[in-house]
Amino acid sequence: MKFFIDTANLDQIKEAEDLGVLDGVTTNPSLMAKEGITGRENILKHYVDICNIVDGPVSAEVISTDFEGMVREGEELAKLHENIVVKVPMIRDGIKAIKYFSGKGIKTNCTLVFSAGQALLAAKAGASMVSPFIGRLDDISTDGLELIMKIRDIYDNYGFETEILAASVRHTMHIINCAEIGADIMTGPLSSLRIIKAPSYRFWISYFLSRLC
Ligand code: E4P
Repeated sequence: MKFFIDTANLDQIKEAEDLGVLDGVTTNPSLMAKEGITGRENILKHYVDICNIVDGPVSAEVISTDFEGMVREGEELAKLHENIVVKVPMIRDGIKAIKYFSGKGIKTNCTLVFSAGQALLAAKAGASMVSPFIGRLDDISTDGLELIMKIRDIYDNYGFETEILAASVRHTMHIINCAEIGADIMTGPLSSLRIIKAPSYRFWISYFLSRLC
């Protein structure tokens, strides 16, 4: 399973990279804005800065919602660095854009996937990755992990090579569960990647006290 970090914060990307287990990065316009990165030139430069830290796929999201706009933005993003993956929303024109990019050999990450049908459509269009938002589904009392299982079955049934990128991961149990059911990649905040947590001294004291009683 590949580990991606979902942030535009360069320090956090460096910290995850230092762990030695980072495979890639995902970003989105809100994450960019959170770091105060605004304006086309600054955003493009920031993507290059991220690519210079991590040797792996870096998802850069288009803002346009029409086919021509997505193609224009995506081609500009793809030229920035060989590791850029153009992140395209799961909307009608997004599917057309994914098909277009796939014909040009440009890698895509179909984002905002909330159903198995959408994941099937994205794979048919030639998406390199598909991003089901499991945390957001959990937020509305819908089982995000069940969606990952359905997509896994569908892709395996037909041999789709599209990678399942479990997105909107919130905590370490999401990562473990996604690994158990065969997600190819997960993306989450730095906190979710800190899987190995040493128990505190309070834990050990109460542990030994409980053994004495
Ligand atoms: C993935 O590519 C998205 O940027 C991300 O996981 C969004 O999730 P969130 O908005 O629920 O944090």
